[in-house]
Amino acid sequence: MCGIVGYIGKNNAVPVVIQGLQRLEYRGYDSCGIAMMHPEIMNLEKVTGKVSELQSQLAQQKTSSPVAIGHTRWATHGPPTFQNAHPHTSQDGKVAVVHNGIIENYKSLKDGLESSGYVFSSETDTEVIAALISKAYHGNLEEAVREALSHVVGAYGLAIIHQDEPEKIVCTRKGAPLIMAVGDDEFFVASDVAAILHYSKDVIYLGNEEIGILTPSGVTTYSETDEPVDKKIHKITFNLEEIEKGGYEHFMLKEIFSQPQTIYDAMRGRLQPETGTAFLGGIDHMIGSLLHADQRYFTACGTSWHAGLIGEMMFEQFARLPCEVEYASEFRYREPLVDAKSVVFAISQSGETADTLAAIQEAKNREATVLGICNVVGSSIARETEAGVYIHAGPEIGVASTKAFTSQVTVLSLLTLKLARLMGMSKEDGLEISQAMQQLPENVEWVLKQADQIAEIAKLYADASNFLYLGRGVNFPVALEGALKLKEISYIHAEGYPAAEMKHGPIALIDKSMPIVAIAPQDRTYDKILSNIEEVKARHGRVIALATEGDTRIKEIADHVLYVPPALSFTAPILNVIPLQLLSYYVAVERGCNVDQPRNLAKSVTVE
Ligand code: AGP
Repeated sequence: MCGIVGYIGKNNAVPVVIQGLQRLEYRGYDSCGIAMMHPEIMNLEKVTGKVSELQSQLAQQKTSSPVAIGHTRWATHGPPTFQNAHPHTSQDGKVAVVHNGIIENYKSLKDGLESSGYVFSSETDTEVIAALISKAYHGNLEEAVREALSHVVGAYGLAIIHQDEPEKIVCTRKGAPLIMAVGDDEFFVASDVAAILHYSKDVIYLGNEEIGILTPSGVTTYSETDEPVDKKIHKITFNLEEIEKGGYEHFMLKEIFSQPQTIYDAMRGRLQPETGTAFLGGIDHMIGSLLHADQRYFTACGTSWHAGLIGEMMFEQFARLPCEVEYASEFRYREPLVDAKSVVFAISQSGETADTLAAIQEAKNREATVLGICNVVGSSIARETEAGVYIHAGPEIGVASTKAFTSQVTVLSLLTLKLARLMGMSKEDGLEISQAMQQLPENVEWVLKQADQIAEIAKLYADASNFLYLGRGVNFPVALEGALKLKEISYIHAEGYPAAEMKHGPIALIDKSMPIVAIAPQDRTYDKILSNIEEVKARHGRVIALATEGDTRIKEIADHVLYVPPALSFTAPILNVIPLQLLSYYVAVERGCNVDQPRNLAKSVTVE
């Protein structure tokens, strides 16, 4: 969603904030702005559009300032206009606020302020915060922020400056991410470490409702009850190169091609090939609870939810442990049968998804054991869960999730293997699965070699308006994921279906303009999927089939065949999703779409 960056220190804050915003642009990107503090006056610049436009605007003015806060926006309240771009100021122009999140009661607060004569200039919920702070200000910004936020219902990450205290940034969060960082006589606040990594790797994670105060001489933190808190400084271990493109045209392509390594990283030190099992240090002490739970749930959104569907199928098929998958956004509103005997797994790449955080809270309220499968170390979900497993995929910048998905499924496979062995899977079977998992990076490498062929096929289908993805069993969630990837980045309408369901409705859509992607590896449903492909061909549909290396039979009926190495159903989803990621990537490129920053989307969805 929105990105926040703030700087105070010995250098010019403007280029630091601009560079930070550029690194956050993947989170939200419809407009941006910066507020700069000079001893006597506060300056504001905003644009609708990219940070590069803001940068050129500022370059013309040669602006320099030791204190600044900036923002890149993903619109929630009001369209992406100049007026609605952040920072938002109070009516007297003295307070400037950048905000990530949603103020749920903003309308009643706004009505109240308006009835007392306050005039708003934007449609945003954020401007209400600036107004409340201004009203509560009596010479101390942090006190005014605390007072203002006592009236607010909702989620926020905030950085605030006030003209009367020019050497201070106040920041706080509730439900939205925000970190502070410490440099050499310079201090930072950001919604994501990526924004400030170039300057500092020493990060302080702000807790919910804590207040951070940045001045030129240091950083102080106060608890939600206003007690001073001594916060730990965490060392970030990943490098800037990991969040740069490294010669690839897009982050998404880089991330697709990094999967042999990221899958290996997800398994490293965890897969135990000599004994045919796995060890997941972060949740090893929870394995007993998982085995003996009355019910197990996966809760997640989007791509992470697809990983959850695969986890469910694997838990049930191999470990014979019943399991449910819930959209996080539905979980809290449908009175789930979750109690103290349930284990709830939250799956999330970013670890900041508001719906998933809300589902975690719901599960906690019902006294369930809540575990996490996350990518971002130190993220809110990692901190809110009792224990968990990191997927170690490294920063994922492309909005469309690719490497995080395969790493999530790798971790779920390891967990399944561990549980299955404890539930009676033979050592022989465990060894066979471990061996297949060990071969995954090499097999993924093999699939990636078909990128050029996939790019050629993509050219033939880039003008399609609809796509249908078909798969069975564990490949049904893969079909859903393939369809999601295509629609996210190419804006082609696409749907995933269990292959046999086609005849119950979607078959009506098939004609010569409808491409069908059929996931048809040589497993126990192979013959049935071949029949589905025949049904499509009989109606002049065009078929791109995903098949097992060496399968010549399918070549006779499908229009195009993409091959994957032979795989166990344990490792099949990871291999099968790779050609689908590449297909959507090349279709989107062919259509001239912004692959890394597709319209209307945001990398982490921090509003409910
Ligand atoms: C994936 O390509 C999407 N951008 C989106 O569906 C994403 O998976 C979803 O928002 C969940 O995000 P999370 O994994 O960070 O929680």
